This record gives sequence, structure tokens and C-alpha cells, in this order.
Amino acid sequence: MEELFFDVLTGAWKTRLLIASVKNGPLPPRIQKALDRIYPQEIKAPHMARQMERMAEHWKGLPDKREVPHGTEEDYRIYMEAQEEKAGFSLNTFLELVDLAGVRRLLDVGGGTAPYLRGIQKKFPDIAATYMDIESAAALAREKGLQGEIIAGDFRDLPWGENFDFILISQVIHMYGDDSVRLFFNKAAGALTEKGRLAIIEHFVDPWDDPYNFLFDINMFLGTDGGKCRTRQEVLDLAPENFAPEREYMIDKRTGVLELRLVF
Ligand SMILES: C[S@@+](CC[C@H](N)C(=O)[O-])C[C@H]1O[C@@H](n2cnc3c(N)ncnc32)[C@H](O)[C@@H]1O
Repeated sequence: MEELFFDVLTGAWKTRLLIASVKNGPLPPRIQKALDRIYPQEIKAPHMARQMERMAEHWKGLPDKREVPHGTEEDYRIYMEAQEEKAGFSLNTFLELVDLAGVRRLLDVGGGTAPYLRGIQKKFPDIAATYMDIESAAALAREKGLQGEIIAGDFRDLPWGENFDFILISQVIHMYGDDSVRLFFNKAAGALTEKGRLAIIEHFVDPWDDPYNFLFDINMFLGTDGGKCRTRQEVLDLAPENFAPEREYMIDKRTGVLELRLVF
């Protein structure tokens, strides 16, 4: 079953990867290695790539490479409801495993419909919560009952504030290249209290050849400007030196949490 799944999906992705490799240069090693494992024949066919690129003009729904999600309001709602649904599978485990004892102020960056933050507010009503996302997401989060401070805008430009004991960044960093992730970590470091924690919820790719996460990685490679799935170590390598790894745990089969603590 897994082989069939791989064959069908990788066949479809391969065409896009062929175009991407001709247009943008060699594929990232992890993607190349995974493809070599499944399709040992070389992917080197510049004419075919050009033809496919021409054909691609006619294909509907191929996204531009962008960082912040775009499309119609309806597209955005479908995307956000899917995220909400996905988070629903891991929320209870997250709430069981995350240790928020002593946390007074918490910031959720790129909160979406705020599935995790609303869960936290319900279980820990004394925590003062701040939420940050673009206005379309904030509107949906409000609709679903998010309370607390809501800051709408692009979190790359907004100040992140200060004195937070805990910052959550869930399913966001895979949309961004390494330089942007470094910037987020620096912003987080400035917004945390001494010994504050940053929690990253992600599809980590260790093991890198998990079929779902592999496809997710390809999706980011093709659909975003520099976005990718990372191993836990790759994420840690982007953090400034004043962050130390604190804890890691899984909240569903493919979603992990990596907590970093600010140290001086
Ligand atoms: C995949 S969703 C994750 C939502 C939520 N954290 C969760 O785990 O369900 C990514 C979110 O990041 C937000 N986002 C991405 N880039 C952003 C930016 N530059 N400024 C504000 N929000 C951004 C998107 O609008 C979206 O709501």
C-alpha cells in the first residue's frame, strides 16, 4: 500500500520537480535522495521539462511561490478549516504534554484559527494570551471564540512585544527559508522573559523518509519561497546561542513539539 501511495504521488510530483530542478538548479539533497530511492533513473530531461513548463501554463491551481497564504477569502477559509481539523487530532495530547505551570503570558505567532491557543485558554484560563496572524485568520479565530489580545498583521514586520513566558509557533516555520526562521528566533528571544520558552510545533523530517512528511517537504519546496520541512537538529541549528533545547515530544504520529529555553 505504501509503495502504491508513493508511486502515484511521486509520479505526479516528479513532473513538477523536473521543472523545478531545471528552473531553479539542483534539488535539495534530501528530496533528491528520496527520489533516487524510489525512481533510480536520473531526472535530467531539459526538453521534457520545457514542454512540461509550457503545459503547466494550462494547469489550473498551480500556486505562485509566496510566503503568506493568498487566494480568495474562500480559499483561505478552506485552508484554515483544514488546519483546524488537523490540529484537532493532536490538541488533547498537546494539552496533556505541554507544561504551562507558572506561565503568565503566552504569545501564539501565526495562530491561524487558534486551535491550540483556544485549547490553552480553556484549560488554563489564568494565562494572558496574545495572538498574532494576518487579518483574515484573526477574523476566523474570533469567529471560533478566541479571546484575549489579537494583533492582526504580518508578523515579520510587527513587534512581538516583551515579557512572554511562552511563545508558540505552530506549523509556520516550514513555510519559510532559513534566514526568515533565524529572524523569528531572534524576535522570539527578544519577546521572552528570562528563562522563557519557545515551542515549535512542526512536521519534523526525522525520520526524513516518512511518506507524508516527505510529500509535505516537496509541497513546501515547490509552493513557497525557501520553505521546507526540517529535522529537529536543523531547526536547532537556526536558533541563536541563547536558546537551549529543553524538551521534545510527539503530539500525533507525525507532529512533534520542540521546546527551547532562553538561557543567559
Ligand atoms: C499552517 S497555518 C498554522 C495555524 C496554526 N498555528 C495551527 O497550528 O493550526 C500557518 C499560519 O501562519 C500564518 N502566517 C504565515 N506567515 C505569516 C506572516 N508573515 N504574518 C502573519 N501570519 C502569517 C498564516 O496566515 C496561517 O494562519
